[in-house]
Amino acid sequence: MSTHNVWTHKGTFLLAAVGSAVGLGNLWRFPYLTGENGGGAFILVYALTIFAVGIPILIAETMLGRNSRQSPIMGMRYLTRTHNTSRAWESIGWLGAASAFLILSFYSVIAGWAIHYTWQMLTGSLSGADAETIGAGFDALLASPALLTLYHTLFIIASGLIVAMGIHRGIESGLRIMMPALFVILLLVLGYGVANGDFGAAARFLFTFNIADLSLEGWLAAMGQSFFTLSLGMGAIMAYGAYMSSEASLTRTAVAVAFVDTAVAMVAGLAIFSLVFGAGLSPGQGPGLMFVTLPMAFAEMPLGALIGGVFFILVLGAAISSSISLIEPVAAFLVERFDLTRPQAVTTMVVASWALGLLTVVSFNIYAEGTIFHALFGRSAFDFIELLTNIFMPLGGLLIALFAGWALTHAEVMKEMRTSETWFSIWRFLVRFVAPAAVAFVFLRSIPQIEGYLIPTIGALVIVGAFAAGRTFLIDHSQEQ
Ligand code: PHE
Repeated sequence: MSTHNVWTHKGTFLLAAVGSAVGLGNLWRFPYLTGENGGGAFILVYALTIFAVGIPILIAETMLGRNSRQSPIMGMRYLTRTHNTSRAWESIGWLGAASAFLILSFYSVIAGWAIHYTWQMLTGSLSGADAETIGAGFDALLASPALLTLYHTLFIIASGLIVAMGIHRGIESGLRIMMPALFVILLLVLGYGVANGDFGAAARFLFTFNIADLSLEGWLAAMGQSFFTLSLGMGAIMAYGAYMSSEASLTRTAVAVAFVDTAVAMVAGLAIFSLVFGAGLSPGQGPGLMFVTLPMAFAEMPLGALIGGVFFILVLGAAISSSISLIEPVAAFLVERFDLTRPQAVTTMVVASWALGLLTVVSFNIYAEGTIFHALFGRSAFDFIELLTNIFMPLGGLLIALFAGWALTHAEVMKEMRTSETWFSIWRFLVRFVAPAAVAFVFLRSIPQIEGYLIPTIGALVIVGAFAAGRTFLIDHSQEQ
């Protein structure tokens, strides 16, 4: 099949997976959610899920991709057949596609903000500006649906073009340079934060674990974030895994991805909160956090306009290397299933997601309140879409863990993992029992909080579920066998 080539180098999967994992989730979402949810306790739940649940599921998801060598939906269809399991497991693929579509819709809007700031930095319009001016500038950006739509459109087109061209060209070599450069500039910002901000307060905020600080929905947000930041539970990793060389080590790769991803988030968090506390800003200011605090640092830094410009370009690079991994699984499916050309498949996915993204655009201005979403769910469309992804990704991850843990045979797993029996047993125990229990625990724990939204949320799940079940049970697949 046209899409099912293998990455050019043994190590490319690692690079692609890091590219997917490291993105706005680390630089923008992690600090802002941590700030909103009171700091340390949030990080504790986040870190525990990364290591006890995230890494094993990362291994499981890559394994399903590499074993089936197809897009997530078709791959799961194939695996259910070859393993004589219920076709209902195919819902892993469908749930993933739904999440990819939802995430891309808002991801692109936020990445668009980075286009704005790249421009602002490089033209020097923020040089020497004070906190108030910078804050007002951000508010003005959010207040303009036209500007937000423009950037959103530019970003999504750029991502679509890359995927349409095929992921080999450009991305591989681009990532090799951009990722280390991003890390270096982040360290530079951290250095600035330590020298001029309040690093002590930042460290206390991030690493004082008082679990009682975490609201019930905070638990869900922390778990959702750990899946989000590792690109887990929605098929991105499975789609990339389908191109992974059979030689590369699953375990080592997964640990490396989780490690790099967490390191980037921590450095970003420390840098941003040093600046926040140093300038007496509020940590809980929401989605604008990174976009308001970092320009403040760049405004005062020597060569700040240049460093800031490069920084936001790198943010854009990190965001693009993530957004292409959101498009890839759905596009590969459309190619395989409906024989679309790659450009046609990408256009379909991107146009639909772009349109949904307009809901996020208006959530920051004309429909910041008083919409049907506020009436039903007590939040804006953007917040609601985020909530959905906080549920869908862990749910997808849970199903992936269960399928890989129970349906794959010992021989298959050993062939993929090529590791000792001990590691195999540890991994299998984690995906069979620990990951599902942890996800279930957080879901149950946060239910009292999301109760008010429970009915609409269940409604949404039922629609997706019914769709998957319909495909599974109602269509006669007998001829396809
Ligand atoms: N992991 C990416 C980030 O942290 C977001 C993402 C989620 C990408 C899911 C692909 C799939 O920015």
